[in-house]
Amino acid sequence: MHLALLYLSWSLLANAAVKAASMPNKIYGVNLGSWLVLESWMLPQEWLNMGGQSCSPCSACIADEFSFAKAFPNTVDGIFKNHWETWFTESDVDTLKGYGINTVRIPLGYWIIEQLVDRQIEFYPRGGLEQLIRGLQQLQAAGIVAILDHHALPGVQTPNQMFTGHCTTDVEFYTEPNYLRALTWAGVMTALSHIHPAFTSVFAIEAVNEPIMDAAGTPGYGTYQKNFVTVVRAVEAALGVKVQGLDNPQATANASQAILNLSSSQNNTRFNNDVTAALRNTASTLVQIASQDSTQFDLERSGRGQAPLVTNFMDVNWQNDNPPNPSAAAWGPQAYDNHLYYVFGGVAAADPNDYMISICNLNRVQADAALGDSPLWFGEWGLPTQFDATDAFLQQWADAQKLAYSKGAGWIFWNFKVEHSTLAGNLSREWSYIDGVKLGYLTEDPSTVHNASVCAPFVNEN
Ligand SMILES: *[C@@H]1O[C@H](CO)[C@@H](O)[C@H](O)[C@H]1NC(C)=O
Ligand SMILES: *[C@@H]1O[C@H](CO)[C@@H](O)[C@H](O)[C@H]1NC(C)=O
Ligand SMILES: *[C@@H]1O[C@H](CO)[C@@H](O)[C@H](O)[C@H]1NC(C)=O
Ligand SMILES: *[C@@H]1O[C@H](CO)[C@@H](O)[C@H](O)[C@H]1NC(C)=O
Ligand SMILES: *[C@@H]1O[C@H](CO)[C@@H](O)[C@H](O)[C@H]1NC(C)=O
Repeated sequence: MHLALLYLSWSLLANAAVKAASMPNKIYGVNLGSWLVLESWMLPQEWLNMGGQSCSPCSACIADEFSFAKAFPNTVDGIFKNHWETWFTESDVDTLKGYGINTVRIPLGYWIIEQLVDRQIEFYPRGGLEQLIRGLQQLQAAGIVAILDHHALPGVQTPNQMFTGHCTTDVEFYTEPNYLRALTWAGVMTALSHIHPAFTSVFAIEAVNEPIMDAAGTPGYGTYQKNFVTVVRAVEAALGVKVQGLDNPQATANASQAILNLSSSQNNTRFNNDVTAALRNTASTLVQIASQDSTQFDLERSGRGQAPLVTNFMDVNWQNDNPPNPSAAAWGPQAYDNHLYYVFGGVAAADPNDYMISICNLNRVQADAALGDSPLWFGEWGLPTQFDATDAFLQQWADAQKLAYSKGAGWIFWNFKVEHSTLAGNLSREWSYIDGVKLGYLTEDPSTVHNASVCAPFVNEN
């Protein structure tokens, strides 16, 4: 073989090894909740064993990562390392693979990019990135693709929720400095997704999990949506991924320098000050991440030949009160996320018949598509109800939800598991995918249901 050809095939192979995963035709997924963003209600006994507390409201004691790290600055990293290593393991990956799960959504905090944390006033465990890398490697080996979900935003995106990492009424995400930190997070995660070998299984990146539903409480969110997509596409173009409308620079010897180069390119009028600042921060953060041995990462790779990431937002109908439509931000492949929980009320009357009428006539996929928010997946749902559900009902309830959500791009159950303990009681019966399969509510093959006609008596009754 000619030397040039030999080199060409070697570099194609090298690129193939870091080729981004693609979105499954139908998503059958679970969330890896309470792993890298811990919600103590899902593991009440382990949380007490770690040194945490339980209270209501959750802001009143050590019930979240922030207050834990603040209370135990010297031991928090080691205690969380143990949690990360034991909550999501190779054995879980094997179980999920055996159950035919093809996708995971991975809730992440902004603090996993440690350079973004202001340690004078913000408290979070360190070392999460190494764990994410470990988990992604295991998922990749199992052929399971991943969505990186920015679940807990800098400044906190919604009040009084453990899932933001900091249970508080002080919501500061919707401000310029915190939007900028979230954009830098997106830039770094995009770069890692294309040039870190562990991130091959990542096909999508979600901008914000569950922002405040009243759009009057989220000023600037529409601009942030556009900036988010621009940062993702700019980083991709700098790394050699084909992006329509952005010059593909010459071969990059150094990913960080390539991003800097693109950020200062005079011809990119699409880049406003926030985008430019986020790209510069991304470039310098990548240099720091590459300098840590534990991240197994170097800057001398390219994304050439790879597919762009799917950018992902909560759908426009997540919000009310004249919300911005994320479809206006689309540039390249984009998908939408809706979450549906009946147990918190406001969806259907607390009664099995009303639940079935509601789910069997759900029109969210169509309503979103009419506004350009398509494809849509249901990134969170579960079996919990507001009444004592029988085993027979939970089987119908699982079938009906899967059928409804599969009319869109598919579904991602919350959660892959929850704790088994006296304190947790029956929590896992309705919140754990793995237990739902074991108990026979969910079919062992996620693409099937027990009874495809389960909705027949309920359709068109409301
Ligand atoms: C890559 O470029 C950045 C930004 O110019 C620089 O700080 C870093 O030292 C470079 N790294 C390597 C390995 O060349
Ligand atoms: C950055 O731009 C300079 C000047 O145009 C160029 O010489 C260099 O090759 C570029 N570096 C990368 C990594 O693209
Ligand atoms: C901008 O585009 C023009 C026309 O394509 C080109 O001549 C010029 O060199 C570009 N400038 C920069 C800074 O890329
Ligand atoms: C747990 O679920 C089982 C089966 O439905 C039920 O018999 C039992 O009473 C439940 N226990 C609690 C503590 O809710
Ligand atoms: C499936 O559900 C329908 C509607 O409730 C019911 O009529 C039918 O008997 C069920 N089929 C089986 C095999 O249980």
